[in-house]
Amino acid sequence: MLPVYFKNKNACNGFLHNFATYFKTMSTEKNNTAGKKLATKFIHAGAEPDPSTGAIMTPIYQTSTYVQSAPGKNKGFEYARSQNPTRQALENALAIIENGKYGLAFSSGVAATDAVIKLLNPGDEVIAPVDMYGGTYRMFSKIFQKFGIKFIYVDTADTKNIESVVTSKTKLIWIETPTNPLMNITDIAVVAAISKRAGALLCVDNTFASPYLQNPLDLGADIVMHSSTKYLGGHSDVIQGALVMNDQGLREQLYFIQKSCGAVPGPMDCFLVIRGIKTLHVRMKQHCENGNIIANYLRNHPKVEKVYWCGFRDHPGYDTAKRQMRDFGGMMSFTLKDNSIEAAMKVLSSTHLFSLAESLGGVESLINHPASMTHASIPREERIKNGLSDSLIRLSVGIEDAEDLIEDLAMAIG
Ligand SMILES: Cc1ncc(COP(=O)(O)O)c(C=O)c1O
Repeated sequence: MLPVYFKNKNACNGFLHNFATYFKTMSTEKNNTAGKKLATKFIHAGAEPDPSTGAIMTPIYQTSTYVQSAPGKNKGFEYARSQNPTRQALENALAIIENGKYGLAFSSGVAATDAVIKLLNPGDEVIAPVDMYGGTYRMFSKIFQKFGIKFIYVDTADTKNIESVVTSKTKLIWIETPTNPLMNITDIAVVAAISKRAGALLCVDNTFASPYLQNPLDLGADIVMHSSTKYLGGHSDVIQGALVMNDQGLREQLYFIQKSCGAVPGPMDCFLVIRGIKTLHVRMKQHCENGNIIANYLRNHPKVEKVYWCGFRDHPGYDTAKRQMRDFGGMMSFTLKDNSIEAAMKVLSSTHLFSLAESLGGVESLINHPASMTHASIPREERIKNGLSDSLIRLSVGIEDAEDLIEDLAMAIG
């Protein structure tokens, strides 16, 4: 049935033509947020009033297919694995907030990573950090290695380590900065120069920083990857991933992988991430403020041995972090003076406001034990060698009142 506006079928056809043009324009051009300041960008990125109703929020196009007037004659949308208007609005927003030209949304962060590795061929080499999200390590070592891709793990915080393993076969350098969970910092601009000289792509996992704190494409990276599950969604209610890039050829290859392999997010989830992005700047400001307070509180606690947070002036990556990030965020890890797993377990199970859970970047504070949770897939010897001890505790500091968070930690640490 036609909507009330379209009692006249010709008027409807005209509208639908405009509608398709509207979405095509949205997918290839930045809307009026280009050049605007951060808050304006996050709120308005990719958002245009819906052409059919004027709805200010992007509608959830909950459809699997689109009716064609004749075979091959469609309105820009054929089948929802290939195109969906809600996803397109999100992908446009992702491009804008990462200062890129093209965004692609995936059904999870690991699906986005999977698409990047599928750009490669057997025999290609990838340089990756020794300290990164355990699921990325698991995918590289347990899934793609057996297809003949070689992964070389180095401490990327010292970029000389990258230079020393680059060969003519290096096709991708993968970095994560700050790293999960040890908050190591890698100089993105320096690695971008190394990758250009080597003729390799540089992909930066920007999940921990979020586009509010850091924009790797501005520093020379080729691809930015996000677990949108985290700060972009921001409310612990969605699993999703993202890639952003400037090069059109690269976009075409990654889009081909996205539609061929099919790891696309549903429209409802795209809507949730669009909504999350609108408040990213206000949430991140509070994550940073609380992060600073909690990191300093822990550092002065008599029972705490070491706090890993890149905002400390004596953090080895502080100068680089200060240069390439706008602030230092709310992610941190710490160890206790009683470096036993039992003492760590006691803290992990005693907090009330900090919920014991995997994931990060939501409004609520989370506490996590990397060795048995997020990084359990990394062999123990490897973890220990790279500084990830059994007693390490990771915090995702949320945006509650900092005093309440301190009270919770004080009670749990004892
Ligand atoms: C830094 C980082 N990258 C990638 C991922 C994977 O994202 P997802 O869980 O959305 O698949 C995570 C998940 O924790 C992460 O922390």
